Amino acid sequence: MNATPRLFSPLALRGRLLRNRIASTGHQTYLAQGHRPGADMIAYHQARARGGAGLIIVESARFHETSFADAPDLHIDTDDAIPAFARLADAVHREGASIFGQLSHSGRVSRRMRNGLRDVAYAPSAVADNRFHTMPRAMPEDMVLELVEAAGEAARRYAQAGFDGVELLASHGLLFAQFLNPRVNLRTDAWGGDHDGRLRFLLDSLRRARAAAGDEIVIGVRISIDEVEADGLQPAEMTRICSDLVRLGAIDYVNVTMGSMAGLGGSIHVVPPMQVATGYIAPQAGTLRAAIGAPVLVAGRINQPQIAERLLADGLADLCGMTRAMISDPEMPNKAREGRLDDIRACIGCNQACIGHFHAGNPISCIQTPQTGRERRFEAPSPAPRGGHVVVVGGGPAGMKAAVTAAGRGYRVTLCEAAARLGGQALAAQALPGRAEFGGLITNLEHELDRPGIEIRRNSPMTREDVAALAPDAIVLATGARPGPPALEMSEGGHVVHAVDILSGSANPGNDALVADWRCDWVGMGMAEHLVRNGHRVRLAVNGTHAGQNLQMYLRDHWAGILHGLGVEVIPYARLFGVDGGTAYLSHVVTGAPILCEGVDTVVLAGVPVPETGLEAALAGIGVPVHLAGDCLSPRTAEEAVYEGFLAGREV
Ligand SMILES: Cc1cc2nc3c(=O)[nH]c(=O)nc-3n(C[C@H](O)[C@H](O)[C@H](O)COP(=O)(O)O)c2cc1C
Ligand code: SF4
Repeated sequence: MNATPRLFSPLALRGRLLRNRIASTGHQTYLAQGHRPGADMIAYHQARARGGAGLIIVESARFHETSFADAPDLHIDTDDAIPAFARLADAVHREGASIFGQLSHSGRVSRRMRNGLRDVAYAPSAVADNRFHTMPRAMPEDMVLELVEAAGEAARRYAQAGFDGVELLASHGLLFAQFLNPRVNLRTDAWGGDHDGRLRFLLDSLRRARAAAGDEIVIGVRISIDEVEADGLQPAEMTRICSDLVRLGAIDYVNVTMGSMAGLGGSIHVVPPMQVATGYIAPQAGTLRAAIGAPVLVAGRINQPQIAERLLADGLADLCGMTRAMISDPEMPNKAREGRLDDIRACIGCNQACIGHFHAGNPISCIQTPQTGRERRFEAPSPAPRGGHVVVVGGGPAGMKAAVTAAGRGYRVTLCEAAARLGGQALAAQALPGRAEFGGLITNLEHELDRPGIEIRRNSPMTREDVAALAPDAIVLATGARPGPPALEMSEGGHVVHAVDILSGSANPGNDALVADWRCDWVGMGMAEHLVRNGHRVRLAVNGTHAGQNLQMYLRDHWAGILHGLGVEVIPYARLFGVDGGTAYLSHVVTGAPILCEGVDTVVLAGVPVPETGLEAALAGIGVPVHLAGDCLSPRTAEEAVYEGFLAGREV
């Protein structure tokens, strides 16, 4: 029996039939070429359409020059864009999925750069945002009229390119939302004032879109049901707005999300990290759906088909956005339809390679799926030579991925892990507060390892002789890294332990703990939370500008809020250089000025890792190719480990 019947029932929207209820909601990929969909973007979306998605909503496209920036995003502002968008639509349609486009204008929520200079941002009123620290200029009325016209023309282009629908972004505190918001739109002309005045920009743009794009195309809006900002739109306001749009016949559906890019708190909900509950926006979407009586799409941490099925069954939505679920596993819909739920490589909400790449200015990918965003680069690898045998040493993410990839090519693989369990440092990472889902990386890889041709040897530390005795044709070394010795210039006693020792239970911290965080990542913040939740007084001294400096910002900011709420004292710009009994000596990393922390019972190190290279040295001259992957090459993150394991498995 199919466990997800509702998810695979078709949905009619304005006479167009979506083959199922799974949508990839708009997400910027950084794959545009010359601001148009090119071969890479087509391959990316085609993979998800082929994987069984019902609806692909393509990333936000700019429709007016007042929203352009130095970024490889989509522009749909002139007719010469139509052929490229048409090629994308054709490719998605050929795979049986429907395709919608988005229209976006950032207004005040932008730090737009053009040719190295900050550009003027235009918004309904001169009201600053709190994320980009932009003070916009109030739009003159003729610009508002020009934008309404431009939105209509862009919708026409989508229709001419063969798109099934178009969605105006009134979500995330973007321009359409700014006009709707009485605390951001302070205009006294026809585009502000009362509710109807503030609605006018969106309503006129929707009407212009309908007039220009014709009757057949689906037109919807994306909204944030709650912007979660001090000056943000509230659920009651959004409900009234959506009710009016439905009543006036301006939209065919509402796409519900949460949050706003106008502040750090609201931004967390744009791509919510793993600490946020799965499907958490669905109850509010359900309330809206009941109030407006129009089809509703909801997104936000719906990472498994079972969750989507449940919220459809509960009547909370008509369509489920499962965006990172398909960034992580493009084949997720097909696997669900075929009942292969255990085979799904579920998104773990780490935000590292999807939105993390995007914010770093790189094409998006997935920590678990190196092919994502690189569809054209990683076509099928060559098959293994007959009877080929690969020995992989190290059963962390790099070794596991190498083993799975090599076995997928037909190699016989022996995977040797020194510890009793596979997972390497990911085992410790999942033990940090709010990080249990990170263990999904191990669970997913373990499931993929469960196939013929792979022998797993646990409790098997390897020597050169052990490896040679297995007579491999190639060796992959993925021996990882270990915490390095504390780099203390003076140590006159005092309790100094590694974070991993606390997580494993082999070290017992005292009441007053100082976390000395060189890494500025998950370990320091996680350890601080772990300790404070266990009743310790905690100071977190970071060797950087702020806690979590090296983390994706939505994850970091969410965590910063938690630590603040728990009373953790954060000391930025602080390098530990000595411990003397109950005193920890730190120095300001810029000036070298001393920072003394007294009354410290335990110093917990989130310190410098060192690669495990012993076996690499021992294998010198062994006579078969040796490939290195992950932290034994250089300690970095699980993303590089999986990626390099994948490469090693392809290259052996
Ligand atoms: C890399 C990335 C870029 C995004 N860009 C957009 C965008 O262009 N337009 C938009 O409406 N939402 C954007 N989003 C938000 C997603 O549409 C979606 O709401 C969010 O990822 C939460 O859904 P999920 O938990 O299913 O991933 C983006 C998300 C990601 C991961
Ligand atoms: S990088 Fe992390 S959050 Fe992003 S899709 Fe992959 S598993 Fe999900």
